[in-house]
Amino acid sequence: MVKKIYLYGNWKMNMTRSETEAFYKDFAGQVKGSPLSAAMGTALEAAVFPPFTSLAAAENASKTCPKGLAPILGAQNAYLEPKGAFTGEVSLPMLKDIGCTHVILGHSERRVIFGETDELIAQKVGAALKESIVPVFCYGETLEEREGNKTFDVLSRQLRALSALSAAELGRIIYAYEPVWAIGTGKSATSAEAQEACVYSKKLLGELGGGESLVVLYGGSVKPDNARELLSMDAIDGALVGGASLKADSFLQIYKAYAGIN
Ligand code: PGA
Repeated sequence: MVKKIYLYGNWKMNMTRSETEAFYKDFAGQVKGSPLSAAMGTALEAAVFPPFTSLAAAENASKTCPKGLAPILGAQNAYLEPKGAFTGEVSLPMLKDIGCTHVILGHSERRVIFGETDELIAQKVGAALKESIVPVFCYGETLEEREGNKTFDVLSRQLRALSALSAAELGRIIYAYEPVWAIGTGKSATSAEAQEACVYSKKLLGELGGGESLVVLYGGSVKPDNARELLSMDAIDGALVGGASLKADSFLQIYKAYAGIN
């Protein structure tokens, strides 16, 4: 059976306003009149996460897309306080004001390059939930941790950081397992490795009270040519895509490869 797929594009520090407009035009053009248009919003939930400076352009461009055919809009980060003296930061109410319904939190680049801790990320997740913004919570082990057989300890620590949240709150989060060694390297996890980590995550989150039907995405070098194998795994509900999400064509090809659409 073909399941619902979450196809989320993390643009990172890429895409100017004009590139964003071009992406939306291309995206709508490819979806319109193809089997993708029936899937959008039902079998396929597509979202993009532009940099802050392109969010307004994305929001405007989405209004020019035929109804129901624009991707959901999210941001790549946010600060937990609603406003105040936090130079350089952007708040969750500000993201809502610009049309975002989702926000990526805890991406490994935030953890590794910008020193975000499990604790800070958990606070941000809580703040997003209070603001009714869907957090896309990223977690995953480094190569060193995997090679040292610490993968599941690390996933456990990162997920347990959310344990202060209520069962209902845990159920509103979208989780994205992203092994750090697979991000931007062209070396995806195998489908078995990704499945194993997602099964483990669902079990642990279930124990924390998160319920049965949690959404867990896989991220790390997802491309049209490995999408079918990864997305066919039953514990993987979709993909968080970096590099291959910058062009509407390769982004949509990921879903097409899974669903068998030419
Ligand atoms: P990648 O990035 O697809 O370019 O590996 C994934 C991510 O960091 O979300």
